[in-house]
Amino acid sequence: MSFAALWESLLPIGRDALSGGYRRFSWTPEDAACRAWFTQAAAERDLRVLTDNNGNLWAWWDPPGPGAAGGTQAVVTGSHLDSVPDGGAFDGPLGVVSAFAAVDQLRERGCLPVRPLGIAAFSEEEGGRFGIACLGSRLLAGAIEPGRARALADTAGVTLAEAMAAAGHDPDGIGPDDALLAAIGAYVELHIEQGRALADLDAVIAVGEQIWPHGRWRLDFTGRPDHAGTAILPDRRDPMLPFAAAVLAARRAAASHGARATVGKVTAEPGAVNAVSARVSAWLDARAPDERTLQTVVGEVLAAAGEAAAVHGVELAAGPESVTPAVVFDQGLRDRLTSSLAEQDIAAPLLPTGAGHDAGVLAARVPTAMLFVRNPTGVSHSPAEHAEPADCAAGVRALAVVLEDLACR
Ligand code: GLV
Ligand code: MN
Ligand code: MN
Repeated sequence: MSFAALWESLLPIGRDALSGGYRRFSWTPEDAACRAWFTQAAAERDLRVLTDNNGNLWAWWDPPGPGAAGGTQAVVTGSHLDSVPDGGAFDGPLGVVSAFAAVDQLRERGCLPVRPLGIAAFSEEEGGRFGIACLGSRLLAGAIEPGRARALADTAGVTLAEAMAAAGHDPDGIGPDDALLAAIGAYVELHIEQGRALADLDAVIAVGEQIWPHGRWRLDFTGRPDHAGTAILPDRRDPMLPFAAAVLAARRAAASHGARATVGKVTAEPGAVNAVSARVSAWLDARAPDERTLQTVVGEVLAAAGEAAAVHGVELAAGPESVTPAVVFDQGLRDRLTSSLAEQDIAAPLLPTGAGHDAGVLAARVPTAMLFVRNPTGVSHSPAEHAEPADCAAGVRALAVVLEDLACR
């Protein structure tokens, strides 16, 4: 009931009328609208709202009684509200909306927290504007240097520092917050499953087991711009050709190593139909079951790109933009989730994932766990991403069970 109302109120924000996908990028008017939505949802529940130095949002339900809030370690749940370009409605928002709805369920059941219960919405999880995934949680956990983060620029050349300042947030304060992290005893992120393992298992809820190591690499191919009709083929230095070789090498390497490799973003400059490009920039997203395999896949792609660049007289500059190591979620917390769910007859298989999450970044500093909710087709990062209302309700129930166990006992 509370889920549906919250969900409907968030749904219009940042939805593109043509594609039906979401364009919620950090520090934009759409982001401000998401923040206002979060603040209102928290206010309606008498939760204390804070924006931390890194622009992450927090809504706190403090335990009753004097001094209780400072004494014990907090339990935090949540996710993110930003999206990839033309992303789906569920990736991120499902975790935040479910968190508020779970708080409502706990209150309806008369449960009171004995330790602080927080709802977080992390900033720029997708790296959709500034290119680094999980930027808000990375800054919080000290996993990216603040100076480097401030200088990150979007496609229009606006830096993170400028975008934050324009939105009224002081960029000078960004960076690790050890005191905030030390106050958190557990972080549990509920997320739509971004694959169809649960559908194949005929199950609704899973407990996260681990996240594959993954990262993003940027490849800049610089050639020589020339006329498409008159430049004879042997004279050309066309950066599009080694770029194409790199895309095919990515597919080949992923297939031969049981990994994933994707080139989903490319720019060609100056972008004339009737000219050989001056420069092609491409971003490789690579993921693998283990770090050695990830290195092998990326090594093969970069080697193929380099060989093709040499053949075509093109210069190649390539390097990582963000790399996240393998994450195995905290075994004790994971087991506790599984057993508290089992006590309520909620079957929840363990599931690894190739998707990245703030929970994966925070796992380096805080005991962390995840719950996944079935996605019938498995499609994600797409307007077609979907979860059935009954499964969303099951997710809220599962999250409330887990939060009751962790925060109310
Ligand atoms: C985030 O969803 C990612 O895995 O890139
Ligand atoms: Mn995502
Ligand atoms: Mn997500």
